[in-house]
Amino acid sequence: MNTVEKNEYSKNDICHLLKLNEPNDLQKLQKHANKILLSNIGNDVFIRGLIEFSNYCICDCHYCGIRKNNLNIARYQLTVEEIINCINFAKKMNFASVVLQSGERNDEKFIDYVLEIIRAIKEKTKSEKMPNGFGITLSIGEQTEDNYKKIFDAGAERFLLRIETTNPNIFEKLHPKSVSFSQRLKSISILQKIGFQVGTGVMIGLPEQTVEYLADDIIFFKENDIDMLGMGPYIPHKHTPLGQNYFNENSNEISKQYDKNLQLQLSLNMISVARIVLKDVNIASTTALETLHQNGRILGLQYGANVVMPQLTPNSYKTNYLLYDKKPTVDESKEKIFKNFTVACENIGRKVAIDKSGTSVHYLKRNK
Ligand code: 5AD
Repeated sequence: MNTVEKNEYSKNDICHLLKLNEPNDLQKLQKHANKILLSNIGNDVFIRGLIEFSNYCICDCHYCGIRKNNLNIARYQLTVEEIINCINFAKKMNFASVVLQSGERNDEKFIDYVLEIIRAIKEKTKSEKMPNGFGITLSIGEQTEDNYKKIFDAGAERFLLRIETTNPNIFEKLHPKSVSFSQRLKSISILQKIGFQVGTGVMIGLPEQTVEYLADDIIFFKENDIDMLGMGPYIPHKHTPLGQNYFNENSNEISKQYDKNLQLQLSLNMISVARIVLKDVNIASTTALETLHQNGRILGLQYGANVVMPQLTPNSYKTNYLLYDKKPTVDESKEKIFKNFTVACENIGRKVAIDKSGTSVHYLKRNK
């Protein structure tokens, strides 16, 4: 039986595909994921400029490098002017959408600031060619329904809120008491009700996470009509309760108990399997993949992803926005990096989309 090409995938099938490891099998998996991608979405690689506009955070998630209690980093918030500079660069490069990401804050001042940024970006990016301006995605964690609504009304069409894992026990172990699994589920459904294109995702290779749990994650995405996915390997950060276990004393190198190759392969398989099961959703090839492999994001595209999020955050702030250790930092100019990336995409037969905001096909279909 050919488990790769089917119409319906059972949980067993999904587990089987996630475990594939032989070069021949992996090739078949990629090939089928690409076929599904081409017939449902096409050849375009959609670009979202990532602006990490603030690293202040009220949460203390056990895995995350910008958690409140990490006192080793300087906290910052970009000014509107700095953000507009990022937007000008994005326009110059013919991007058509951005992701605004930050640590979590719920105070009124913060929300007002977010609304101001959204309006400023829309104002700056509306043109004859793009009457709705840039597509704007927010990734700022859990907010009240009221505030989600204000963000939507200000013009942001998309929201990313990762579930991190759909296994409630693991979720609980990863988060402080103030962050609850049931609230996360509720927030995702509120975002959908308001009308956002909703993205979620998980970290891959977490302690105690089995392939069966990852299969449950994929089934969750399908059952909940998710429009966009951002998934990537869990990468230990030294100054976090979860990450510190992976470092030997006095060393900044992640220890051998963390199997990079395994984490990378499992993450790539997750992308392919999500593609063949969910078909028409946007799937990001994430920065975390690039941390494990110098060509990680291209590999992600080859396994069926269709979105890439180049960082636009000014270099001077980057070292203070390390969610995990060894996030690739940038020495070369952003322009040169992006040009190289465009060529790398062409080399694998893909095309960087120009001036297209890249609305999720799944979202368009479910709103017909
Ligand atoms: N490794 C991998 N991903 C991480 N994130 C946060 N910390 C880590 C880590 N140590 C991811 C989370 C979050 C997103 C913004 O970054 O999934 O939702």
